[in-house]
Amino acid sequence: MVLSEYGHLLPAYRRQAALPDAERIAWIRADRWLDFEQARGALARMEDLLAYPPRDRMPCLLLYGDTGMGKTKIIRKFLRDHPASFDKAAGVTTMPVVAMQMPAEPIERDIYGELLVSLGISGPIDGATHRQKELCRSLLRSMGARMLIIDEVHAMLAGSFRQQRIFLNAIRFLANDLKAPLVCAGTDLARQSLLTDPQLAERFEALHLRRWADDRFLTQLLSSLGALLPLRRPSALETTAVRKRVLELTDGVTVRIFRLIETVAAEAIHSGAECITKESFEAEGLVLPLVAMTRKAEERLLRRAAG
Ligand SMILES: Nc1ncnc2c1ncn2[C@@H]1O[C@H](COP(=O)(O)OP(=O)(O)OP(=O)(O)O)[C@@H](O)[C@H]1O
Ligand SMILES: [Mg+2]
Repeated sequence: MVLSEYGHLLPAYRRQAALPDAERIAWIRADRWLDFEQARGALARMEDLLAYPPRDRMPCLLLYGDTGMGKTKIIRKFLRDHPASFDKAAGVTTMPVVAMQMPAEPIERDIYGELLVSLGISGPIDGATHRQKELCRSLLRSMGARMLIIDEVHAMLAGSFRQQRIFLNAIRFLANDLKAPLVCAGTDLARQSLLTDPQLAERFEALHLRRWADDRFLTQLLSSLGALLPLRRPSALETTAVRKRVLELTDGVTVRIFRLIETVAAEAIHSGAECITKESFEAEGLVLPLVAMTRKAEERLLRRAAG
């Protein structure tokens, strides 16, 4: 294959376009990280916090946005950029960034349990809550943790008022004790719940992942997708009509945009069209990838019928 072929793709992705259909479709559906403006901004902010020298009141960050806006994806990327390492000679593990998920209910025991899992301690851990807490503290220290990330913070709202206070105390304690910045991620409800603790509210900077709108950022996202999806002909993703249609179908939610583009790209391979155009989004049998989107489309049809 001549690599100057498929000039509409970035050089690194041209090889993919020559693969058989099934492999290209599998590639389209595979997990990948895409570097778009807001995500890059969030990562940069986290890098900045990680470089912050330890002091008494460490600044903290709340990453919030609707479901499917890419919060967990950002955290995973940050973890890949700062992986744990094991020093064979000394027999010690260093984990600069520790990320845990909020347990389904904000029970103090479960919080330390989740944290221990993130620290690589598996299996049930006996002992009273305070023993677990001590174990977390000493492990975080000995592993050189410099940042603690808690995803799905809004789950704390599933607890009673008392449980919520205990949870907030626990994270405040960990952050103070470690002298490390805390990064919390969740929906807007997470923001509201953190605000209920005046001390934490003073420490958290909030970063909102906004939904996509009809602007240059969406144009950039669509054109970068066009430059990497292994279709053999150039797509027309940069037009106003496509942007409008994409926003209509997705409400500007990241996961829906990605799934929609993946669906039409796979369809372009099946049909042999080999490119995405405005018509790709109008196709009769276009199966919308997410239930949330189907509902949107139905509402639109109903509105049309009514008006
Ligand atoms: N930067 C990105 N690169 C590639 N895909 C992404 C990116 N951000 C989001 N996505 C896509 O969107 C999906 C949802 O992202 P993610 O799970 O991070 O959302 P979330 O904000 O954590 O949602 P929730 O609040 O429901 O947990 C991902 O599985 C991925 O397919
Ligand atoms: Mg998530």
